[in-house]
Amino acid sequence: MTTSLTIGVIGAGTMGNGIAQVCAAARYSVILQDLSQPALDRARQTMEASLARQLKKGTLTESQAAETLDRIQPTTELQAMADRDIVIEAIVEKLEVKAGILRKLDEICRAEAIFASNTSSISLTQLAAASRQPERVIGMHFFNPVPMMQLVEIIRALQTSDAVAETVTELTRAIGKKPYVSNDSYGFVVNRLLAPQINEAINCVYEGVATAEHIDEMMKLGTNNPMGPLALGDLIGLDVVLNIMETLYRGFDDPKYRPSPLLKQMVHAGYLGRKSGRGFAAYPPG
Ligand code: CAA
Ligand code: NAD
Repeated sequence: MTTSLTIGVIGAGTMGNGIAQVCAAARYSVILQDLSQPALDRARQTMEASLARQLKKGTLTESQAAETLDRIQPTTELQAMADRDIVIEAIVEKLEVKAGILRKLDEICRAEAIFASNTSSISLTQLAAASRQPERVIGMHFFNPVPMMQLVEIIRALQTSDAVAETVTELTRAIGKKPYVSNDSYGFVVNRLLAPQINEAINCVYEGVATAEHIDEMMKLGTNNPMGPLALGDLIGLDVVLNIMETLYRGFDDPKYRPSPLLKQMVHAGYLGRKSGRGFAAYPPG
């Protein structure tokens, strides 16, 4: 695929900065947009730290790391997406907020632009319905930490055109990831299985079955996962986990997806995991 395609990423948080980094590392020009300069500054620091790890490992050179950062243009203006071929949205997991961005992009972008959402669970069909060009909307679900994780779930809305699905699948391969295409369903494949496991681990803490530390150690030793479900919830962000569980619960209308009361309390307290410095473990700054 030609690297002449231009990419826009909306949201420079946990996922957005990783998506921008891997696209830029594959030589694509990237505009990274967020609401405030401090959010963009934090994203830059995260990308620098991630590239430094790869430098240390010897998987890229100093000039490649510098070129990657140079290809990413930060901005607080959504209008900057006007010339982009593909815009990948990675903002808060709320249907109405994502739909609002899609409506704005309809006004700002060229008629041929593709709108990909990194949503973790929301129906792409419902999201696409918010756009004047629903056939150009698709799910492009990256995994955290983006530079390390190989999978990208490609989710076709009922309205997505074949051409859009093909372009996004090719782009995924071009940035060194493995695309798996699925039809639209709440939580798609991975989060439909993963989020209930994290939620159930939180219920075990809530009911006093075992401590968070022990649950994580037991799951690592007993299932060979690289990290336990509670540490993974902290890595993902407990607000994101709650939003996924709520989408599954309401979407399938099935009580088996009921969010844990403790998960709700953690989010209400602002204990969101790594990004807030406290979740099921503490994460001192630095
Ligand atoms: N950028 C670049 N390199 C990174 C990195 C980053 N952000 N994070 C880790 N690495 C590299 C390190 O440099 C290190 O490389 P070497 O071993 O070659 O030196 C390697 O990854 C391992 O890192 P660490 O030793 O620090 O830590 P680790 O061995 O515990 O691995 C991990 C970290 C990759 C996060 C691993 O624990 C893991 O795979 N955890 C599970 C992650 C997972 O399941 N993610 C999916 C979440 S669900 C999701 O994303 C979907 C959703 O919608 C919520
Ligand atoms: P985050 O909270 O870390 O970052 C979201 C960023 O979006 C913030 O920097 C915020 O300032 C910005 N933002 C919010 N509203 C905006 C707007 N209107 N315009 C521009 N920027 C805006 O969230 P995240 O964890 O990166 O999640 C983003 C999306 O990716 C969600 O849909 C989430 O479900 C999905 N996702 C998350 C993970 C994960 O592990 N965290 C994995 C895969 C997918």
